[in-house]
Amino acid sequence: MAVADIQLLLPLFVSFLLMFRGYSSLSSEGHFVEHVAFFVFGDSLYDPGNNNYINTTTDFQANFWPYGISYFHPPSGRFSDGRLIPDFIAEYAGLPLIPTYLDPRNNEFVYGANFASGGAGALVESHAGFAVDLKTQLQYFGDLEKHFRQNLGDSKTDQLLSDAVYLFSCGGNDYLSPVGNNDSVLYPYTHQQYVSMVIGNMTDVFKGIHEKGGRKIGITTVVPLACWPSIRAGRPGNTCNEELDIISSLHNQQLSKKLQELEKQLEGFMYALFDLNTEVSKRMKNPSKYGFKIGDSACCGSGPFGGIYSCGGKRGVEEFYLCDNISDYFFFDSNHNTEVASRQFAELFWNGESSVTAPYNLKTLFQGTD
Ligand SMILES: *[C@@H]1O[C@H](CO)[C@@H](O)[C@H](O)[C@H]1NC(C)=O
Ligand SMILES: *[C@@H]1O[C@H](CO)[C@@H](O)[C@H](O)[C@H]1NC(C)=O
Ligand SMILES: *[C@@H]1O[C@H](CO)[C@@H](O)[C@H](O)[C@H]1NC(C)=O
Ligand SMILES: *[C@@H]1O[C@H](CO)[C@@H](O)[C@H](O)[C@H]1NC(C)=O
Repeated sequence: MAVADIQLLLPLFVSFLLMFRGYSSLSSEGHFVEHVAFFVFGDSLYDPGNNNYINTTTDFQANFWPYGISYFHPPSGRFSDGRLIPDFIAEYAGLPLIPTYLDPRNNEFVYGANFASGGAGALVESHAGFAVDLKTQLQYFGDLEKHFRQNLGDSKTDQLLSDAVYLFSCGGNDYLSPVGNNDSVLYPYTHQQYVSMVIGNMTDVFKGIHEKGGRKIGITTVVPLACWPSIRAGRPGNTCNEELDIISSLHNQQLSKKLQELEKQLEGFMYALFDLNTEVSKRMKNPSKYGFKIGDSACCGSGPFGGIYSCGGKRGVEEFYLCDNISDYFFFDSNHNTEVASRQFAELFWNGESSVTAPYNLKTLFQGTD
């Protein structure tokens, strides 16, 4: 019997449910079980439509056709044809779709909240003024924490926050945004200095989550931006940008090292690091092995490799094409993968082996290790 039916039959039960709606739900046996809340932070790989509600430009929005075409009607604002990694993770964890924090229609966040914003980076300078940077996302989470403390009290809030899983996608825009300004990418910083700044700011946010009582973090390596369709389309001969390759490798090495340090430093800190970079590279190089026909070009866009970011025709360039069969493609637009690819990634993030997601996978973080 569905929870809704029980509520209709048993009004007394309803008030009990409402008291505990903070973080309880009914198991199939009718016992109360606590669910694990899910908070999502980051960039367009996770943005469920927060950018629909900020003052930005259509470069940083995707709430128009054909975005969402495989799943969301009308388009939600996700930068894909359908669902994203956190949408599948929520499903595997038995949670509803996690609400978009900035959508004014949402005001209950007991299952969690999604703060991610397309274009966002760890550095406030990355696409400043057009996206909600990671630090501001943490502030929003702080506002929500206060709201929980007022509504649920301290002990239930502490429990909710320490059981919760916090998912991150961050870094890509910190490396992409300077490329648009100057091909000599990170001037005046060395690669090492710049990557350290990005990782330093991400670390500040992880520590911020930990201070508020969060313990379990899921994060991915940064994707192989060097051969992104949007990067190749802007370069003579449509070559890959090797400098971006060097920088993303450096980022991924430093991230992994930093997480190992935090595990030792921060009490109770646990993490799942999913090697998205490797998984994306494999699909771009060998698409047919993963059920795709095309691994290097976008389904929706224009120009070489569909690399001009014109999907939807609202970003200054009106002409674009849309492929016939979206699931044949790894890339939906010149910067973002298709729903089919997100589902594959989510499965590996959820229960992948330690060669892919380590030291824990998300399933373990959600279920707890005790
Ligand atoms: C939105 O941004 C534009 C350009 O940055 C600015 O001119 C405008 O005043 C902003 N509008 C609001 C409501 O903040
Ligand atoms: C781009 O970076 C180089 C240094 O790497 C610098 O000399 C040049 O002035 C920069 N160009 C612009 C437009 O900022
Ligand atoms: C965070 O980024 C800013 C630039 O936005 C930089 O000045 C600062 O040093 C960085 N913080 C850390 C801890 O690296
Ligand atoms: C789309 O592609 C998938 C995978 O290649 C295939 O299974 C499906 O039949 C195709 N659909 C259409 C309408 O061609």
